[in-house]
Amino acid sequence: MINQVHESAIVDDGAQIGENSRVWHFVHVCSGAEIGKDCSLGQNVFIGNKVVIGNNVKIQNNVSVYDNVTIEDDVFCGPSMVFTNVYNPRSFINRKAEYRDTLIKKGATLGANCTIVCGVTIGEYSLVGAGAVVNKNVPAFALMVGVPAKQIAWISKYGEQLKLPVSGTGTEKCIHTNDCYHLSGSVLTLISE
Ligand SMILES: CC(C)(COP(=O)(O)OP(=O)(O)OC[C@H]1O[C@@H](n2cnc3c(N)ncnc32)[C@H](O)[C@@H]1OP(=O)(O)O)[C@@H](O)C(=O)NCCC(=O)NCCS
Repeated sequence: MINQVHESAIVDDGAQIGENSRVWHFVHVCSGAEIGKDCSLGQNVFIGNKVVIGNNVKIQNNVSVYDNVTIEDDVFCGPSMVFTNVYNPRSFINRKAEYRDTLIKKGATLGANCTIVCGVTIGEYSLVGAGAVVNKNVPAFALMVGVPAKQIAWISKYGEQLKLPVSGTGTEKCIHTNDCYHLSGSVLTLISE
């Protein structure tokens, strides 16, 4: 395994980290974590035991990925964004058996300082704006902003708004890649690449 793990990082025995992944200063990876190849874990990142992370995932500084969070390939986690796993925490009640699963699907971006309330699925290639609080499932390709996060537009795989309404019917090409998207109701599908 060829990895770059900074000497200040703590990678517990048993943790799996794929090749060419980089682990920066003061990171802690717990023993049960599974991390793919070509990932980057920025300064002060924490990865819990019951966490699965795909390939080419970028996790920026100060992000804690708690138990029951699953991150698919090509996801970007912006600096200081927040995952959660207990929906209604109380310091004096043990809720470890009540953790809710959070799934971040392929290619999604989670903006700086956003919060993902546990129990949701963030759709493929969606983008959550900086500072948003997501408490519902996010459709694939949705652009979400605000508190609570609302969908304001559709965003391409390239990462720019598509000229389509949030709901309706239509077809649109990405001006950068020529990828073609079709909107049917409130579902956007990539129909050709
Ligand atoms: C969402 C984002 C990508 C902008 O996307 P965009 O398609 O260019 O959107 P626009 O700037 O045209 O904004 C559209 C509307 O949403 C609002 N908006 C944009 N980002 C917002 C945010 N994070 N929170 C709340 N509202 C936001 C804009 O003010 C605008 O509202 P208006 O129409 O009333 O003026 C960008 O604002 C953002 O949050 N990027 C994340 C940056 C980040 O976290 N990077 C991490 C790596 S350093």
